[in-house]
This record gives sequence, structure tokens and C-alpha cells, in this order.
Amino acid sequence: MSGSAPEANGSCNGAGHAITDIEKYLSTDGRARQSGSLSKLIFKFTGIPDVVGFHGGLPTAEAFPFSGIKFSLVDGEQISLSSDQVKAAQQYNVKGDGYPPLQTWAEEAVQKLHAPPADHAVSITTGSNHALDIVLGLLLDRGDHVLTEEFTYPHMVDSITGPRGYQLWGVSYDNHGIIPEAMDQSLKQAAAEKRPLPKVLYTVPIGQNPASFCIPAQRRQEIYDVCSRHDLLIVEDDPYWAIQFPAHSDGELGVHRLGESFLSMDTDGRVVRLDSFAKMLAPGLRVGWLTAHPELTARFSYAMHGSCLGPNTFMQVVLHQMLMQWGWEGLDRHCKRIQGIYRRLADTFHETAQEELTGLAEWERPEAGMFVWLKFLAGVHDYDDLLNLMLEQKVTAAPGSICHVEGPQPDVGCPWARICFAAVTQDQVKTGVQRLAKVLRKYQAAQQTR
Ligand SMILES: Cc1ncc(COP(=O)(O)O)c(C=O)c1O
Repeated sequence: MSGSAPEANGSCNGAGHAITDIEKYLSTDGRARQSGSLSKLIFKFTGIPDVVGFHGGLPTAEAFPFSGIKFSLVDGEQISLSSDQVKAAQQYNVKGDGYPPLQTWAEEAVQKLHAPPADHAVSITTGSNHALDIVLGLLLDRGDHVLTEEFTYPHMVDSITGPRGYQLWGVSYDNHGIIPEAMDQSLKQAAAEKRPLPKVLYTVPIGQNPASFCIPAQRRQEIYDVCSRHDLLIVEDDPYWAIQFPAHSDGELGVHRLGESFLSMDTDGRVVRLDSFAKMLAPGLRVGWLTAHPELTARFSYAMHGSCLGPNTFMQVVLHQMLMQWGWEGLDRHCKRIQGIYRRLADTFHETAQEELTGLAEWERPEAGMFVWLKFLAGVHDYDDLLNLMLEQKVTAAPGSICHVEGPQPDVGCPWARICFAAVTQDQVKTGVQRLAKVLRKYQAAQQTR
């Protein structure tokens, strides 16, 4: 299967310089986003001494149900919130960019971990998926093109770009991510033929979903340079950043040795980076943060305020208190702990697969994230060929075709499957791989007796 190029209208402007005016990159929706009139009033009247504020719409804290909040961490540490924090946790977000103390923490995290060279601003999100939906809405109109890996995050394919009418333009990748020369060539050809060009590169650079690759620093710079030359913004969706477990690292990486990002090399201000607490801490928290050009971040905050009045305050206050209590060393210890958990699961998959699946399938040992991208051999044309046998043997996997930029295409066939090794125990990983091997052997035997 391969991604196809889109139809006519744009050209390569060979920018390669700092973005001073974000307006030209915005969609109709993005250009229309403004601070709400009530928000403007709140900022205007806040801080006037002795004022009786009848202008807002916040309920009285006296009416809130919670008087104290205490919680326990897995290592037994206890966290409790002060009465002011308990009140704040139950109140609306007045600022669209998040609970201010957590937003300050996120700004520090961005500076410490990515040190972006261009001017940028940070806003708290309700996780990467929602942030992605909002940010693409600010940048793209129906029919606009997004360049991405030929196989990508399935929600991006069918739940965001599909309903919103964006066109996904798949480029080939290898074990180190998108191939910059292929991307450059494809963009040049489209420009020469006066076909429309993508406005955005969407990429999952670490532990890619589904293909599991990690883009090394040099490749990342090459991809960045291509985007800069063709004036594409880069949406760097990096939820698996904290769960890197390279095979040959000297101990777990923690949070301080996770390496650079597209944001770290963003001299132009063209990167929109999405971070999430979903995999670093827990997905049920529904909190993350976005870093981008300040004008784009402002539009993002207006859009967040417009759609949901900002992320859940309760969880932001709790999270902030935990992060303060942990400090950077506590977060580092936590990241090392989870990296060890994912490493053990990934290694168990890889080692069992070497014993059981050699000759029946192909895969790479993952270095990050939660997935193995498995190519079925044994004469398998499409994942569906194996479905009944998998159900019979009680083992499941996601069909690779749902991750393809064009969605499932039954007549083409896709012998790939996405295996998530993260949701099961090490013993279950072993059993699952043994069952997959049985499925493939049975399929192969049936083919030979035909
Ligand atoms: C590439 C990618 N982006 C975003 C998400 C969702 O992240 P969040 O839980 O922060 O919304 C996922 C989760 O599966 C993902 O794989």
C-alpha cells in the first residue's frame, strides 16, 4: 500500500526563515479565534483594589462539595491539598492556557527538556488527542493536506482528518522515520505539477504509533530542513517520549536523558509540540501541554476556552501538587520505573518472538512506546486472512490497515498488525506470541495442503 499525492493548487515558497506572522498559516477557524468578551472583562477588572466584582460568572466556593483532598502514591507517599488549593481545584479555569501554577511548571519543563531556540509559549491541554484536533482546526480548512508517515496514529486517520475533511498525504518511512529525500522529492514534484501542497507535517517521532520507530537526531534535522524549505509547520505529537528504553542504554534514561526533539531545533518557530501526561503518568488524567509560536498558542487557548472552558482544573491542581512534591528527581525516578516496566515487556515480546516467530513474521525490537509493528510472512496477504484463526487461538492484534493514511483497502491487502505489548503481563506476552506462532503455522500448513 502506498500514499497517493493530492490534486492541484500550491507551490513551494522555499521559506527557511523565522515565522514572524502566524496569520498566513491559519485556517478560517484559526483566524476567527479571539479572546472571549467575558475573558477580556475578567482581565480588565482583576486586581482593582477593593472592587465588588459583579462582572464574572464564577460560582461561590462556599457552595463546593469538597473540603479536603488527599491521595496516595504507589510508593506510599501521601499528598494533601491546602484549603486554597481545594477551592481552586473546584473552580473554573479563568485563563484558557491552564491552571497558572501547572502552566508555569510546563514552561519550565519545556525550557529544561527542549530549550527551544525560537520564541514560544505553552498552554495546558486535555491530552494530545484533543489538542491535535483543536490545533489542526486552527491550521487547516476542509480539503487541506497534511503530510505524514504512510502508516500513522489511527485516530488521526479516521476520527480527526476523516470527519474534518483533511487530506492525508503519506510518505515512506524506514526504521528511522520519514525518509527526508522521499519527502523532499514528493513535495518538489507536487510543486512542479502545481498540485496543492501540505501545510503541515504531522509526525509521532518517538515510539511511533503504529510502526514503533524513533527518529534519530540527524534524521530529525534533515526532516526539519525539508519542512523549512517547503514552509510546512510541524506538528510533533510525542506522547511516548517518556517511555524510551533503548536496547543498549547504560541504565534507564529517566527524564533528563530523553534526547532532543523537533522543538529543540526549531529556529523558525514552525513546530507545534504536543506533550501528554497520558503515558508519562496515566491516561485517565486527561492533561498535557502544547508548545508553539506564541500567536498560535494564544489562538489555541481561545479555542480551548471556546470549546470546553479549559482543561479540568481539579486534575491540574492535584497534578501540580504531586509534581511539586516530587521535584525533578521524583519525576526522574518515576520515569525510570516505568521505562523499566516497558523495557521488560518489550524484551519479553522480542525474545519470545525470536524463538517462536522467526521465519513466520518480521519485526524490530521497539526502543520506545507501546507497540511492535509486525509483518506477517507465511504467505499472508492481509491481516483478515488470519482473523478466524486468531479468534480460535484466543489472541488478538490491531490490523495495520486501520493505520494507513487511506484507511483499510480490502483489494490491496495489508499483512501488517499492530501489537500492543503494554496492556498485558509478561506471562501473557509470552502466551500471546506462542499463540500467534500457532496461528501462522496453521495458516501456512493450510496453504501448503491447498
Ligand atoms: C500518537 C498518539 N497521539 C495521541 C494519543 C492520545 O494521547 P492523549 O491520551 O494524551 O490524548 C495517542 C494515544 O494512543 C497516540 O498514540
